[in-house]
Amino acid sequence: MSSNKKRRSTHWFGGNDRDAFVHRSWMRNQGLPSHVFDGRPVIGICNTWSELTPCNAHFRKVAEHVKRGVYEMGGFPVEFPVMSLGETIMRPTTMLFRNLVAMDVEESIRANPLDAVVLLTGCDKTTPSLVMGAASCDLPTLVLSGGPMLNGKFRGEDIGSGTDVWRFSEDVRAGAMTLEDFMDAEAGMSRSAGHCMTMGTASTMASMVEALGVALPSNAAIPAADSRRYAFAHLAGRRIVEMVDEDLRLSQVLTKPAFENAIRVNGAIGGSTNAVVHLLAIAGRIGVDLTLDDWDRLGRDLPCLVNLMPSGKYLMEDFYYAGGLPAVMREIGDILDLNALTVSGKTVGENIAGAECFNREVIYARGTPFKDQGGIAVLRGNLAPLGAVLKPSAATPELMQHRGRAVVFEDIDDYKAKVDDPDLDVTPDDILVLKNCGPKGYPGFPEVGNMALPEKILKQGVTDMVRISDARMSGTAYGTVVLHTAPEAAAGGTLALVANGDMIELDVAGRRLHLDVSDDELARRRERWTAPPAAMERGYYSLYTQHVLQADQGADLDFLVGSSGAPIPRESH
Ligand code: FES
Repeated sequence: MSSNKKRRSTHWFGGNDRDAFVHRSWMRNQGLPSHVFDGRPVIGICNTWSELTPCNAHFRKVAEHVKRGVYEMGGFPVEFPVMSLGETIMRPTTMLFRNLVAMDVEESIRANPLDAVVLLTGCDKTTPSLVMGAASCDLPTLVLSGGPMLNGKFRGEDIGSGTDVWRFSEDVRAGAMTLEDFMDAEAGMSRSAGHCMTMGTASTMASMVEALGVALPSNAAIPAADSRRYAFAHLAGRRIVEMVDEDLRLSQVLTKPAFENAIRVNGAIGGSTNAVVHLLAIAGRIGVDLTLDDWDRLGRDLPCLVNLMPSGKYLMEDFYYAGGLPAVMREIGDILDLNALTVSGKTVGENIAGAECFNREVIYARGTPFKDQGGIAVLRGNLAPLGAVLKPSAATPELMQHRGRAVVFEDIDDYKAKVDDPDLDVTPDDILVLKNCGPKGYPGFPEVGNMALPEKILKQGVTDMVRISDARMSGTAYGTVVLHTAPEAAAGGTLALVANGDMIELDVAGRRLHLDVSDDELARRRERWTAPPAAMERGYYSLYTQHVLQADQGADLDFLVGSSGAPIPRESH
């Protein structure tokens, strides 16, 4: 049970003056007896439930189970909503709103009588946005993922969120799948509560928070539909109350070694490139010096051990039955900082000591990996002076060293207008270049970097080409795709100057991305270049485009980097 020492929440609920009357009286309209204000820890449950975020639509039930654990340990749980980001629904892209949600979370925590927070996260951006906001407050904080969906099913086979959508839609375009079958697959793909069950961005970020130590062990893989997910939520509720008494804050867990552990784990699971941007942003909030070079350095020789889509065959449900993330972390334990502290109150080493693998088809042994290259490659050169990223485990090995002619699309509308034009001058050896899809350019940094191949190329049976953009790519996608090119085209990066027919060299092993055009010619093109007009001159769009940082800095808003802590704000009346 929790001790009743003076807490942050006491500044609202303690005492017998007019203000305490106001704070308690209105809360009591919810049927609360007076003893809940006796100084017990107030635990915020930050909920991203929304029927427009289908991956998080079961979160009110998850929250109820967290509350059970909080009550059991003598805490007072209060659930509050924040803006929710439904990846498949929102336009132009949820990434535009990640930083807005982070602001919502930060200010909701600081302004309210909370001693600690449980963050309920699931769909892609709901995880980084909540962790970013909470990191700028630095209260005791525990992340609880809602869990992945059960495996998708179609015609007796397992199908994976996103990954098989991309595959099926290309099959339809190439004439290899009927429209009727395509519609049948739609019904079988998302057949339970939970988020994408491939190792896409949601599962990657659920793994990242576990590897960072801000979620309890096994957080990433327990399916949403498994009763053990709710038992896990119950335990999270118990644990957060203990964390208040221990004053175990995010800044004690989110240290540089914790980020290094997470980057290594991302390599071992073949995680999403989106983790790069999100971890850079979280590090910026908590004051840890993390750079793109850390990603390349730590992931360079790391094999991928996990045979999950989009890099492999299996899905998160199989991953859980095979032992989940603790089994992977134990496999690479020799290169992790086992002394890093986690929200369990134990070290990483203690958390994973008893972990076992139950299926070597899903989680491979370190000595016989699933794929040799698991990390994220960071490319540099005159086309990406501030860096670009590529996921080798999702790429075609023969294309990782490639020189080709640029086929340029000035923006996403230009791409959509031209890509299936039978007269488009394109061959499989060319390199598709897409501009103005970065943070400022789209705006919002959407997942369009894995642009579908031109129909005339698909009909030749070709399934991959080198693609380069300043966009991101869905974590469920695959291909030889260079992403996050910085500076982006809309910020005047070299990408803006690429013209049809220019030669581009990609050398993943040498970490090089070079536009084979002379500096003089590039200078001439730069003089003629003008920035694209802003998508919107007012509101959040305007704030975002004026302040968003480039991909190499996590695409946070410049004025949100860092932390303001959780001082008790002034009274409202
Ligand atoms: Fe929500 Fe993929 S759409 S996690």
